[in-house]
Amino acid sequence: MYTEILKIIEGGLLKDTKKVYNFAKLLADKLEKDGDSKMSKMIFRALENGPATTVTMDELLTTPVDQESRLSIVDVEVPSKEASPVVLPILVENKIRDFVNVVKHQNQLLVNGIETSNTLLLYGKPGCGKTSVAKFISEQTGLPLIVARFDAIVSSLLGNTAKNIRKIFDFADNKPCILFLDEFDAIAKARDDQYELGELKRVINSLLQNIDSFSKQNILIAATNHPELLDKAIWRRFNTVIEIGLPGDEELLGLLDLHLKDFTTDFTDDKKKQDKIIRLLEGKTPSDVKSILNKAKAQCIVNEKQVLAFEDVLIAIYEFNNHAASSIEKMVEFLNENGVAQLAIAENLKLSMRQIRNYLNKQS
Ligand SMILES: Nc1ncnc2c1ncn2[C@@H]1O[C@H](COP(=O)(O)OP(=O)(O)O)[C@@H](O)[C@H]1O
Ligand SMILES: [Mg+2]
Repeated sequence: MYTEILKIIEGGLLKDTKKVYNFAKLLADKLEKDGDSKMSKMIFRALENGPATTVTMDELLTTPVDQESRLSIVDVEVPSKEASPVVLPILVENKIRDFVNVVKHQNQLLVNGIETSNTLLLYGKPGCGKTSVAKFISEQTGLPLIVARFDAIVSSLLGNTAKNIRKIFDFADNKPCILFLDEFDAIAKARDDQYELGELKRVINSLLQNIDSFSKQNILIAATNHPELLDKAIWRRFNTVIEIGLPGDEELLGLLDLHLKDFTTDFTDDKKKQDKIIRLLEGKTPSDVKSILNKAKAQCIVNEKQVLAFEDVLIAIYEFNNHAASSIEKMVEFLNENGVAQLAIAENLKLSMRQIRNYLNKQS
């Protein structure tokens, strides 16, 4: 009697394709050793394609809901063929590629008896690309992304929080997918909100248990803006931790390329102007850079300009930095200081040359 058969049946009933796969492989090995090489070969042939790596839409559509509000507690995102590009420092990019490669080769690793734990923690300021990286990984691996926004889940009633967390993990368990816990720090932040300490501890403990049993077989990504709020027990659960920080000069250039690739500009080949733009963008997140450049591009289009000019970008930066409180004088001064010709300032801001000179004389 081969006990593997029992395990295969168990795996089948639980829809645990990896369990079925691994024990079928063990069974085939044993059969071969016991002289039944014909049966062994047939099993190996059946296993050739590895465990199922697709998941049916039906399985993804019936998402878990909060007991009281009846609102869905996860979103499912099916990976699109078209990768949304993320601009990151080379070292960060490499780490992410390594993670993707391990996920892609998980079956081979399992077959060779190498247990991997695919848990990734992303941290960094809002707008630097954590959610984008999770989507990127989903696109690269072809696995659907099951997104659980912890800020929304934790804000519901406490009794439900533990239950909702359990439901999320159950939903994602044994499906070929990536579970993405976004705004993960919400659980820790709740400490000073509506939660009683003892009860919160219970919620966190149940979260840790869920992570432990989930991460042996599945892929888990968590993202947080506040890494300092997560306690050590949580950090330990993640075998890859990546900081997604503010872009440096290289990445800012990469973002300019990415967002302006369909536009002709008067600064792409002008190092001085480009440097100036990079300097003014320093300290901004990729999300900020995107809004600034979108603004400039929109202006270029509505004004039917053929070329996106240096000053268009500078005006967009100025407006981004100053929002409502900006005065026209200050803007003229800013553009002048950054090397925009007075005639160009006048044209762009629909002012006369006399007004421009007036503003600038007042300044000096
Ligand atoms: N590193 C990046 N490269 C390219 N675009 C980015 C990057 N980071 C953020 N963005 C843009 O900003 C938007 C918000 O980023 P997001 O991934 O939600 O940031 P986070 O999750 O860290 O708050 C994204 O939709 C994307 O267009
Ligand atoms: Mg995010």
